[in-house]
Amino acid sequence: MGSKKASPLILLVFLCSWASVLSFLSPKGVNPEVLALMGIKATLKDPHDVLENWDQDSVDPCSWNMVTCSPENLVIGLGTPSQNLSGTLSVSIGNLTNLQTVLLQDNNITGSIPKEVGKLSKLQTLDLSNNQLTGEIPKSVGQLRNLQYLRLNNNSLHGAFPPSLANMTQLTLLDLSYNNFSGPVPKFSARTFNIVGNPLICATGRENLCYGTVTMPISFNTNNSQAIPSSDRPKCHKLGLALGISIGCIFLLLSGFCTFIWWRRRHNQQIFLDVNDQHKEEVCLGNLNRFQFRETSTCNQ
Ligand SMILES: *[C@@H]1O[C@H](CO)[C@@H](O)[C@H](O)[C@H]1NC(C)=O
Ligand SMILES: *[C@@H]1O[C@H](CO)[C@@H](O)[C@H](O)[C@H]1NC(C)=O
Ligand SMILES: *[C@@H]1O[C@H](CO)[C@@H](O)[C@H](O)[C@H]1NC(C)=O
Ligand SMILES: *[C@@H]1O[C@H](CO)[C@@H](O)[C@H](O)[C@H]1NC(C)=O
Ligand SMILES: *[C@@H]1O[C@H](CO)[C@@H](O)[C@H](O)[C@H]1NC(C)=O
Ligand SMILES: *[C@@H]1O[C@H](CO)[C@@H](O)[C@H](O)[C@H]1NC(C)=O
Ligand SMILES: *[C@@H]1O[C@H](CO)[C@@H](O)[C@H](O)[C@H]1NC(C)=O
Repeated sequence: MGSKKASPLILLVFLCSWASVLSFLSPKGVNPEVLALMGIKATLKDPHDVLENWDQDSVDPCSWNMVTCSPENLVIGLGTPSQNLSGTLSVSIGNLTNLQTVLLQDNNITGSIPKEVGKLSKLQTLDLSNNQLTGEIPKSVGQLRNLQYLRLNNNSLHGAFPPSLANMTQLTLLDLSYNNFSGPVPKFSARTFNIVGNPLICATGRENLCYGTVTMPISFNTNNSQAIPSSDRPKCHKLGLALGISIGCIFLLLSGFCTFIWWRRRHNQQIFLDVNDQHKEEVCLGNLNRFQFRETSTCNQ
């Protein structure tokens, strides 16, 4: 009798404590930035154990190595340059929406740049240079309206330059050098940009044969005021060619005209002198210099 009455009570207590355990463990109770950083750590190989004190039981990640927090304990910086990190960059970086600075340069990170970086709307500096990143620049990077410094140089990125990069007027430095980008170069608004070491890009944005066939090496590191990488050099080249052809044509016409006049005079004067063809040729050649001096002055008059 007594045991029958007690069992519902025990069940109730058990259910209550289970619920409280559940609520304690639920994602609401865990700092989402801790989760996101643990996601980043999970896909990186860390031979020097610089991420050792990243611990998912932390209340916040503000005491962790390489993590910078705002006074409100929000993660605003992630900086692990030159730590020989390899592995890939996790998509969970997109959950660190307060990030302003990401410095992961000079590591050995492989894989592609996750498109989730486009969610980091407060990002001002992104440096992923000197890694082994592959794939294309995600188009979502164009959404980063506060991005001022973007360095992706010395990776193995490929594909076309995203046109959205050209729209980022707030960008002051853009370094895409030493990758494998191809195709035309948009008019970047970044004050300083560097695209050297991309053998597949072409100089003019207008040519149809840009992709791979024109392998004109472009090497400049310039600011906006100076030569935009468009058709300046080919234009000069074409202008020179046109000028050369024009001068050549004029010269040909002039010399043809002069030869005609000379031939008529010689023909009239020396018609009885030309005994055989060989002799005629010698006479002609021998008189050529004289002809040029004499007849040029005639022509000019
Ligand atoms: C990132 O945020 C999304 C949506 O809020 C969530 O579903 C996902 O689990 C989060 N990932 C990490 C690693 O925090
Ligand atoms: C990348 O890894 C290679 C060997 O796997 C090593 O020689 C090189 O120093 C590493 N580079 C960086 C920047 O850590
Ligand atoms: C970087 O890591 C690779 C293996 O992943 C190792 O061969 C290399 O010596 C390391 N370099 C440095 C500078 O720690
Ligand atoms: C990038 O690569 C070029 C060519 O291999 C090299 O000269 C340059 O030093 C590299 N830059 C960095 C930061 O490693
Ligand atoms: C660029 O692409 C070519 C052909 O796809 C490849 O052979 C070369 O290794 C690539 N270079 C880099 C730096 O990724
Ligand atoms: C660039 O900006 C212009 C005007 O703001 C817009 O019309 C165009 O679609 C944008 N292009 C890209 C690729 O974002
Ligand atoms: C940018 O232009 C200024 C003056 O026009 C020049 O002094 C400076 O060297 C240029 N910077 C680069 C990176 O070309």
